[in-house]
Order: sequence, then structure tokens, then C-alpha cells
Amino acid sequence: MPATLLTETLVADMLKEQIDVTKLPQHIAIIMDGNGRWAKSQGKHRVFGHKNGVQAVREASEACAEIGVPYLTLYAFSTENWNRPKTEVSALMELLILTIGREVKTLQKNNIRLNAIGQLDLLPDSCKKALDKAIRETSANTRMTLTLALSYSSRVEITDMVKSIAEKVKNNELNPSDITPEIVHNHLYTHDLPDPELLIRTSGETRISNFLLWQIAYAELCFIEKYWPDFSREDLYAAICEFQNRERRFGMTSEQILSE
Ligand code: FPP
Repeated sequence: MPATLLTETLVADMLKEQIDVTKLPQHIAIIMDGNGRWAKSQGKHRVFGHKNGVQAVREASEACAEIGVPYLTLYAFSTENWNRPKTEVSALMELLILTIGREVKTLQKNNIRLNAIGQLDLLPDSCKKALDKAIRETSANTRMTLTLALSYSSRVEITDMVKSIAEKVKNNELNPSDITPEIVHNHLYTHDLPDPELLIRTSGETRISNFLLWQIAYAELCFIEKYWPDFSREDLYAAICEFQNRERRFGMTSEQILSE
């Protein structure tokens, strides 16, 4: 094993030992950012960065499943990403189809359920088919739910939620005074997922970029100064350690939290 890889493995093991597995974030959401800049820094085309990002997707998913995180959500393609050059969009769609097809066996082996959120009808047919097939085939898996946010926009999700609640009010199925945060949650694309407790963004950017705006109300945010293709299990474990070292007060005082 090369020396750098050996050091990374040792660091990852040391960090893993520090994690309290009884206090894991139940849902980790990741904004995978920096594929383009990673490729550019090596004088390569942006698509080269996306291709190398797949390995980091695998690494993050395996590390989460192994340690016992039950929900992982990855921001793989935003609604705004449709505005990128046609060639990049096509390459990303092809990469998705290829990766989903290739990884389904590994998902089965690791008992991981694949899920997707977003305006999935906007995806090309071939991509939608590959996705539906993988979702169907992994639907009985219970160890972890891996959700891909595809053609996703939080503002569109919130708008869709408002439309579906308004429709119920119009049909006298729901009284406006009965609308609670729980009812809102039940009408979001993520109705069957708990809220993320830890949100990670790579590439050093400190923005949320229209991702899970309602759901991350109480998430701990962790910004990592590495481009996505360089993200490793060591980074994931370090983020979980940081999460466990933070005091989550949910609006209460420090004293109240400590006396609980
Ligand atoms: C952000 O980097 C990344 C994306 C828009 C796509 C993420 C896709 C992958 C990691 C590959 C396949 C994914 C799956 C789930 C199989 P960027 O292009 O915005 O980078 P930049 O900010 O440096 O331009």
C-alpha cells in the first residue's frame, strides 16, 4: 500500500474509534461540490471531475452504511444544473445511468435501499428507467436509505408542498387552522425521511444552494475545504466527530441541555 494511502487509512481508523456510535447523526446530507474545479486544477475537462466524483460517492455511502448511519442524501443534480452546457448535462446523465446500473449489485450486497427526490419526470427516459429499476430492486433493503436528489430544487419542493396542501383545503379535506409543521413535512418529497442532522458541503463554498431548506432547520453545517473527488471516509468520520462535539441546543440554554 502506498505511504499516503496507509496514513489516510490509519487516520480514518483513529477517527472512527473516536465516534460514539450511540450518538450518530440519523441523517447526513451532502452537497457534493467542486468536481469541475478539481478537474480544472489538473488541466482536465469538467466531466473528468464528475467521473472521479463517483468513487467519493461510493466511499461516503459505504462509510455511512458501515458505521450505522441510517439515512444518507446526496445532492447529485440541481434544477439549476439543467442550465449547464448541453454536453456536460448529457455526460452527467450518462454517468448516472452507468453508475446506477453498475452499483445496484453493491447496494444489494450492502442491504442499501436507493431512493430519489426531485422533479424526476424531467430526467431523460433512459435515466428514469435505470433509476426506477434500481429503486424497485433495492426497495426491501433496510440497513441504509441512500437518497439521490436529482433535478432537485428546494423552492420547487416547497412550492409543490403548498400546492398539494392548498388542493386539500380546496376539497375540504383539510382545515387551514389544522396545518402544522408535521403536515408540511408530510407533503414534502422527503416525507418518509427524518430531517438531516448533519449537512456537509465540500469545495470550501459556504452556501446551501437551494438544498433541503425546510429540512435542515436544525442541522449542524460542516464545510470542508476539499473538492468532492478528494472526499474520503476520513473526511466523513471527521465531520461526524465534529457533529458529536457540538452542543445542539434547539433554542434552549446550555444549562438545560446539560441537565437533561
Ligand atoms: C458539483 O460539482 C457536482 C455535481 C453537479 C454533480 C455530482 C455528480 C457526481 C459526483 C457524479 C455521479 C453521481 C452519482 C450519485 C452517481 P461542480 O460541477 O458544481 O463543480 P464546480 O463547483 O467546481 O464547478
